[in-house]
Amino acid sequence: MRQWLRAQFRSVYERVLRYEITGAPSHVAVIQDGNRRYARNRGSDATDGHRAGAQTTERVLDWCSELGVDELTLYAFSTENFERPRVEREHLFDLLEEKLYEFADADRVHEDGVRVRAIGDTERLPDRVQEAVEYAEHRTGDYDAFTLNVALAYGGRTELLGATREVAAAVERGDLDPGDVTAATVEDRLYDGAVRDVDLIVRTGGDERTSNFLPWHANGNEAAAFFCTPYWPEFSKIDFLRAIRTYEAREASWRQTRAKRALALVRALGGEVKEARRVLDRLREHLPESIEDEGMDERPVD
Ligand code: FPP
Ligand code: MG
Repeated sequence: MRQWLRAQFRSVYERVLRYEITGAPSHVAVIQDGNRRYARNRGSDATDGHRAGAQTTERVLDWCSELGVDELTLYAFSTENFERPRVEREHLFDLLEEKLYEFADADRVHEDGVRVRAIGDTERLPDRVQEAVEYAEHRTGDYDAFTLNVALAYGGRTELLGATREVAAAVERGDLDPGDVTAATVEDRLYDGAVRDVDLIVRTGGDERTSNFLPWHANGNEAAAFFCTPYWPEFSKIDFLRAIRTYEAREASWRQTRAKRALALVRALGGEVKEARRVLDRLREHLPESIEDEGMDERPVD
C-alpha cells in the first residue's frame, strides 16, 4: 500500500514538474557519479554499479529527446580514471566499448538522427575502445538532429592546455598574430568538432564540484549547475525535471539581472539620450512589478 501511494505521488509530482517546465536547455552535460557506491551499498562489485549506471544513461537519452534537448555530453571516463585499479578500468573499457557499438547500431539512434562522437584524448584509450569510437562516429556522422558527446579520456585542463599549445605554435610559425587571438581561435582548437555552450551541468552522487569537466563550454558560459544526492543508477526522471527547472529559474533570474542593470544604465543616461524612454519601456516587460516599483518613476527620463 505504501509503495503504491509512493508511486502515485511520484507520478503526480512528475506531471506537476513537467507542467512547470516551459522550455529545455539546448545542451546538458552530466557527471554520472556514484556508481561504485551504489553497487557497494548492495554488496555488488564496481562493475555492476557502472552497468546499472549505463541503464540510467539510456533512459536520460529518452528524456532528452522527449523534452527537446539538442545535445547531451556524458562524462564517461576522465583522465583521472586512468589511475583506477586495472581490473576496474578494463571492465569500464569493456562496458564503454559495448555501449558505443550498441548506440551505433540502435534503431532509435538512426530514426532520431543522433550523432555520436567522442571528446577527449581518445588515443590514450585501448585500441578496442578507439575502434568502437570510430565505428560509432562513422555510422552516425551524417546526423544532426541530436548530438551525443561521450567524454572519454577527457580532462578540461588538458583540453585547454592543448588548445593553448596550438595557438602558441601558430603564433611562433607566424600564421597567427597574437592580437588576432579571439575566443573562436581557442574554440577551434578544443577537442574535435564544435561542442555548443553548455546550459546545464548535472552531477549525481552528492559531490558539489564540476571536476575538470568542460571548463570552456560550461564555466565559460556560466551554465546552471544541478547537484543531487542520488547515485547515478538511481537518478530518476523527477531528478532530471528538477534539474531542468533549476536551469529555467536561473535563466529567468539572469534575464532580470541583465534587465535591471541595463535599466540602471538607461536611467543614468536618461536625461541625455532620446531613445531612453523607448528602451525603458521595453525593459519593463522583463521585470516583475516589485523591481519596476524600485523607484523607477521617481526620475523621468525625458
Ligand atoms: C563515475 O562513478 C562514473 C564513471 C567513472 C563511469 C561512468 C560510465 C558509465 C555509467 C557507462 C555509461 C556511459 C556511456 C557513455 C555508455 P564512480 O565510478 O566514480 O562511482 P563512485 O563515485 O561511487 O566511486
Ligand atoms: Mg566518483
